[in-house]
Amino acid sequence: MNNDIKEVLYSKEQIAEVTKKLGKQITKDFEGKNPLVVCVLKGAVMFTTDIIREIDTYLELDFMDVSSYGEGTESSGEVKIIKDLDTSVTGRDVLIVEDIIDTGRTLQRLVELFKHRNAKSVKICTLLDKPERRVEGVKPDYVGFEVPNEFVVGYGLDFAGRYRNLGYVGILKPEVYEG
Ligand code: XMP
Ligand code: MG
Repeated sequence: MNNDIKEVLYSKEQIAEVTKKLGKQITKDFEGKNPLVVCVLKGAVMFTTDIIREIDTYLELDFMDVSSYGEGTESSGEVKIIKDLDTSVTGRDVLIVEDIIDTGRTLQRLVELFKHRNAKSVKICTLLDKPERRVEGVKPDYVGFEVPNEFVVGYGLDFAGRYRNLGYVGILKPEVYEG
């Protein structure tokens, strides 16, 4: 599996460090708010479970599964809800945790949905941001790293369902997705 990686972008240690830093900021910003943390399945699972342990306030956790990607590396533009939240967002301070913001379509759709459902506030925390590819005006409130316009995998991020279990974030060799 490691042989399919062209370059390691962010090591385990770098991810842990940035997660700690973001957790501290979030702790300050959400003190006394009992936020509803929404983990966007499946890519954000690792980042969510790590970052909530760095947030020292009361919070609740829920999961949502949306899909905008098929087996390829290009967004379809279509965002489908596969699994909705169990919790009502009405009147809640919502913190969406995402693995990566690419075109921004997924997050745009989620923010609109939660506002429509009368969330009190909606903030976004993403491990990775690929601003070069943005087509929607989504601005994350908390960003781990800005990534170059390359397809990245690991630490939750997949290609065709694989590589989520890598401890680091890396760039896939083009021959893996081209071949
Ligand atoms: P949009 O375009 O809606 O996409 O912002 C966000 C979702 O697309 C997936 N995505 C990636 N997944 N490596 C991945 O493994 C990437 O480089 C990549 N870029 C986008 C991801 O699931 C994210 O939630
Ligand atoms: Mg995702």
